[in-house]
Amino acid sequence: MTIILGIESSCDDTAAAVIQDGVLLSNIVSSQKVHESYGGVVPELASRAHQQNIIPVVDQALKKAGVKKEDISAVAFTRGPGLMGSLLVGTSFAKGFSTALGIPMVDVNHLHAHVLAHFIKESKEDGSQPGFPFLCLLVSGGNSQIVLVRSYKDMEIIGQTIDDAAGEAFDKCAKVMGLGYPGGPIVDRLAKEGNPDSFKLNKPHIQGYDYSFSGLKTSFLYLLRDELKKDPDFVEKNKADLCASLQKTIIEILMDKLRKAAKDLGIKEVAVAGGVSANSGLRTAFEDHAKRFGWKIYIPPFGYTTDNAAMVAMTGYFKYQDKEFCPVDAAPFSRVVLI
Ligand code: KG4
Repeated sequence: MTIILGIESSCDDTAAAVIQDGVLLSNIVSSQKVHESYGGVVPELASRAHQQNIIPVVDQALKKAGVKKEDISAVAFTRGPGLMGSLLVGTSFAKGFSTALGIPMVDVNHLHAHVLAHFIKESKEDGSQPGFPFLCLLVSGGNSQIVLVRSYKDMEIIGQTIDDAAGEAFDKCAKVMGLGYPGGPIVDRLAKEGNPDSFKLNKPHIQGYDYSFSGLKTSFLYLLRDELKKDPDFVEKNKADLCASLQKTIIEILMDKLRKAAKDLGIKEVAVAGGVSANSGLRTAFEDHAKRFGWKIYIPPFGYTTDNAAMVAMTGYFKYQDKEFCPVDAAPFSRVVLI
């Protein structure tokens, strides 16, 4: 029997999960509210909140799983990328835990874990996982990538953003409209009441499968600047239409490149991962592509799209089976390294 404790602390969610023989037993996430009034994550506050949360979160995960710490085979933790102060808390906890219990540590790449969230099983019978090779659109607050997944371990980033991430485009445009943080879910909600063809926004023209969202962000900013000169209530009056147009453009940018990659590589198994995959318009676009192009699509449940430790434990489980452990002096990394 293999039991893996997963720890996630890369940004502003403190999370712990337990997986037994590939099946999820518990998944606890404590989201930090302290950042809301700042309109974005404040790294130092995130780090301090992780320190307060980590022990209660792990305790809850073990209790919910009905597992004693002595039963755990290994501790898997997010080593990066992410905020250094936040990563240090999870990494230090994992080191203390593994040393105290004399069990191995497994380091996990956060992006790798988002992709492998598709393999989380809630029961032994759960069989809805992608077949290899598949394409995964990984869209979050810090990343927008198309990943070619050949196996649990063999992943290649074939396209990525050259500037902002899709989540950042949602969040920054929401911020200039005076909406709350994080902006993505708010834009998603308001877009449902708006006309997506009300405003025409810039789409990038770049080669290959790479993305760019900075031009869209600038064109959105200029639209508001020009219209607000004519009518100071422009945003208030057009909020839903602005959100619907913004969301439609972001989704079109994402899907155009993903469709091109799927066609060029002849791949029909297509998955989506990361926080932005919670977007209802993106989910509908995936369903539409499944019908039009015969794609077999994989959209994770909401709880596995945003940051969570179940995906870390799952990735740790695969690495544990291959005895891929990490030394106790392993340091976290903040920047994206090759998956
Ligand atoms: O993967 P994630 O939870 O965290 C990091 O990137 O660290 O992604 C967070 C991002 C934020 O930009 C947030 O606005 C976006 O995911 N997001 C959404 C939605 N829910 C979360 N964007 C659009 N529509 C949503 N429903």
